[in-house]
Amino acid sequence: MRTLIKGATIVNADATTRADVLVDGERIALIGENLDATADRTVDASGKWLIPGAIDVHTHMELPFGGTFAKDTFETGTRAAAFGGTTTIIDFAVQPRGGSLRQGLDAWHEKADGKACIDYGFHLIISDVRDDVLSEMDQLVDEGVTTFKLFTAYPGVFFSDDGAVFRAMQQTAKNGGLIMMHAENGLAIDVVAGQNFAAGNTDPYFHGTSRSPVFEGEATNRVIRLAEVAGAPVYIVHLSAAEALDEVRRARDEGLPAFAETCPQYLFLSLDDMGNGFEGSKFVCSPPLRPADHQEELWRGLVHDDLQVVSTDHCPFDFHGQKELGKDDFRKIPNGLPGVENRVDLLHDGGVVGGRITPNRWVELISTAPAKLFGLPQKGVVAVGADADLVVYDPKRTHTISASTHHMAVDYSCYEGRSVTGAADLVLSRGKIVVDGEEWLGQAGDGRFLRRQRSPFLH
Ligand code: URP
Ligand code: ZN
Ligand code: ZN
Repeated sequence: MRTLIKGATIVNADATTRADVLVDGERIALIGENLDATADRTVDASGKWLIPGAIDVHTHMELPFGGTFAKDTFETGTRAAAFGGTTTIIDFAVQPRGGSLRQGLDAWHEKADGKACIDYGFHLIISDVRDDVLSEMDQLVDEGVTTFKLFTAYPGVFFSDDGAVFRAMQQTAKNGGLIMMHAENGLAIDVVAGQNFAAGNTDPYFHGTSRSPVFEGEATNRVIRLAEVAGAPVYIVHLSAAEALDEVRRARDEGLPAFAETCPQYLFLSLDDMGNGFEGSKFVCSPPLRPADHQEELWRGLVHDDLQVVSTDHCPFDFHGQKELGKDDFRKIPNGLPGVENRVDLLHDGGVVGGRITPNRWVELISTAPAKLFGLPQKGVVAVGADADLVVYDPKRTHTISASTHHMAVDYSCYEGRSVTGAADLVLSRGKIVVDGEEWLGQAGDGRFLRRQRSPFLH
């Protein structure tokens, strides 16, 4: 299959150019002005942008949490991702407590293989650091699962103490992997949450107020310092608070290999959304939404490269039947928000249209930097020889986000009724057109498991 894309403005992280692009099979074969090539399909992309398919390095398809499972399967979640211009996800496999990393990885292959519609990789969530687990980390890095998430939050579930975190970091210092940290002080949070509940404060809003941004800043500093002594890079996931950003900035100014992502919910939503009684459960995630004045700090972090990536932390639970598990106790509300379909457009609208970032920086945050930091050199760029993961993007098309039109398998949207400018017109996944306007042309099983490299950009 050969596709010729004519007249597009190619937006890469480092440059914007006007050229035609020939896709041959799974790769980009030629880029040049007025290409005269035969093709099975010619696309007129004049007036549109051509960007590398977006990469979401933080998703949770079918994650078990709080007695239920995140609603999107690899099939529904990756189809929704593609509609939103995302052509690669990296999802978190979970080590069963007391079990091996291999068991977790096998379980996630079972969920994803033959079902994902776009390419996918895995990180491993480690909640039980043992000698045999440290050895397994080396094997997994060699097999292309190069990144591991540990938590200073969720005592009794995913929590690791400082010693365990430090040992895992020492291991990646040796094997070239990367530790990703959920940095909140979970033990202190549980004290405040328990006090809130005992005082009769059972509403979702108190999920937010129980998790002080200072607890996030403290844990962020702590894990950065553990990484410093271990001699390892560290990546802070879903950074939400100015206090945590301050710690990442300070570390980077000192020359430490500290990296961080934020997510659209922290740029566009706030603690206020968690009010309004139980409706607020739609917005329960961890770290929680913050007071609105944190948002501009995070945008500044994106501009100055103290934050390098925007991912979604897509972890959808239905309002009816799932979030309702915490009707009488905010601590029982499954944590997580849907968003895999909305990231590219939200960041374009708030960032590029909003005048905060350039189109090139937008591409860097959603695609190029994730490819570099997570060991995917064949992705994240429109270049000859790269995978033909491409999005013909209309930067002028305005649409309204709604659960009635989105493709995620969840019964609400956090952005219901929000009008955004910018939309994917055509999406190619390794050369195959999977989205053409509203038409779905992809297929479950089209996605391929990605063995990722150790990233050379972490030191
Ligand atoms: O609330 C969240 N973020 N749910 C998903 C699990 C995690 O901590 O990333
Ligand atoms: Zn987390
Ligand atoms: Zn997450």
